[in-house]
Amino acid sequence: MSDIPRREFVRSALAGGAALMLPGTLYNAGLFGRRGFSAQTDSHIEVLLDEPIGTIAPEVYGHFTEHLGGVIYDGVWVGEDSKVPNIGGIRKALVDALKRIRPSVIRWPGGCFADSYDWRDGVGPRENRPTRTNFWIDDPGFKNVDGGPALYDPNEFGTSEFEHFCRLVGAQPYLAVNVRTLPAQAFREWLEYCNAPAGKTTWSDVRETAGDKDPYDVRFWGVGNESWGCGGNFTPEEYVEEFRRFTTWSMPHYGLDLSYIASGPSGADTEWSRRMFEALRERNAIDSVWGLSVHHYSSAPGVGNHAVDYDEIGWYDLLERANRMERVITSNWAAIGPIDRQHHVKLVVDEWGAWHDNAPLEDPSHLFESQQTIRDALVTSLTLDIFHRHADKVGMANVAQLINCIHSLFLSHDDKFTVTPPYHVFDMYAAHQGGQSVRTLVSAPEVSWTSRNGEARELWGLSGSASVKDRELTLTVTNSSLAEPRECEVAVRGGAIKSVRATTLISDDVHAVNDFDHPDRVTPKTVDIQTTGPSLVHDFPPASVTKLAITLG
Ligand code: AHR
Repeated sequence: MSDIPRREFVRSALAGGAALMLPGTLYNAGLFGRRGFSAQTDSHIEVLLDEPIGTIAPEVYGHFTEHLGGVIYDGVWVGEDSKVPNIGGIRKALVDALKRIRPSVIRWPGGCFADSYDWRDGVGPRENRPTRTNFWIDDPGFKNVDGGPALYDPNEFGTSEFEHFCRLVGAQPYLAVNVRTLPAQAFREWLEYCNAPAGKTTWSDVRETAGDKDPYDVRFWGVGNESWGCGGNFTPEEYVEEFRRFTTWSMPHYGLDLSYIASGPSGADTEWSRRMFEALRERNAIDSVWGLSVHHYSSAPGVGNHAVDYDEIGWYDLLERANRMERVITSNWAAIGPIDRQHHVKLVVDEWGAWHDNAPLEDPSHLFESQQTIRDALVTSLTLDIFHRHADKVGMANVAQLINCIHSLFLSHDDKFTVTPPYHVFDMYAAHQGGQSVRTLVSAPEVSWTSRNGEARELWGLSGSASVKDRELTLTVTNSSLAEPRECEVAVRGGAIKSVRATTLISDDVHAVNDFDHPDRVTPKTVDIQTTGPSLVHDFPPASVTKLAITLG
């Protein structure tokens, strides 16, 4: 994937006089934007209330849970007889903390696992359910693990348990359908289990034995996962054949408007997206797609990818790779635009996060688990702000994965539990959900460094996004510099500031983590700021994430 051509982006925008017509936030590195500012600060932010981009779909604040390592077993599911406090087998501490950040949607059961999973193994009385070999069993990360639910899935956690988890936290379910190893008929029956009216079919009767007379009304269905890879090694054209088989004619809707999410590219592989959409157009099938799934993980090269003991280069390299999300979104959008001219299909970034190469923390079966630092919190804030700036394009996003895995908001083992720094960003940013994203111009000195492979690189000094809901303006800002604070004048165009509350996430040691003994090591602080009028001056500390909750007069 190539780098984002930031300087060119700014120059061409200015040259064309089209700066204010571009989607999202424009970063001009001091080239313009000082007009109308009163303070002599090194940075400026203009929030343009009269320039809406789109509503930030609450589904952008989605999560992802896969039967992988410690995500489900020891993470979400502890079992009804566990000494770990639980609600019907689901870890209570997780339910309580997750509810607070308003999770809009949760994706399950994978990931690569989904294309090996038979949902019928996970329904009916638990004591009758079969144990199956997990998709990930041959991963080298399991070399010190001998047995257990991460290798041999007991199917204690199935569709109804997942639905109960979603209900407990107030999220919509998003199910990933097995396209690689099951026929379309199995999908049809899964739909029936979830959505058929009570007492009408054998599968809805089985659902009732789980205590659920009423249908689950599952709306979001992913048709396969990474179908170019673990989901079947399909070509885009072959995948479209499968997609058609799985979604046309015979699928019962039970009065619901089903939203099918098609398996899309890895990152900015726009060739997959373009060919897939060409094939959909040939079959007159674009309208049957609700969302195009896109995955983007960020890893810093070399030693910089250690989750905790990274160096300065590792800090910047990772943030720069997280920022490539912008390119992933704009390039895929541009690739499908000439085919889906009305932009009927939205992008669904249903896997994203920083993927470090560390060993699990306490339990060796927690495959891909790593600690999270303030650096991962900044990956979170940069990414969510990108989604807001492209609110017109992104219909859903799911951070990967919820607990005990890649970019996790939670870590647990037995009865131990903590939230991580990225959790706090989700908490701070929850106010953006459902808000109207408005164009925001940022001007700040750039951050420069030499990357691990010796290239001169630059990052935007400050970045962020803004949204408005009921006269409440939420402005979120990341200062990516490890060393430089930014003094910034924030001007609200088209409105007046009545009151401001600032919440800042910062860490006195950028390598610090929240662990089971110190769960509050990295937590945000909130203060009220006394200011009124059209603008305010705020100091953004280095390596920080800030939310300014501004009540408009
Ligand atoms: O999240 C881990 C894996 O990464 C998922 O199973 C797969 O979809 C992706 O490659």
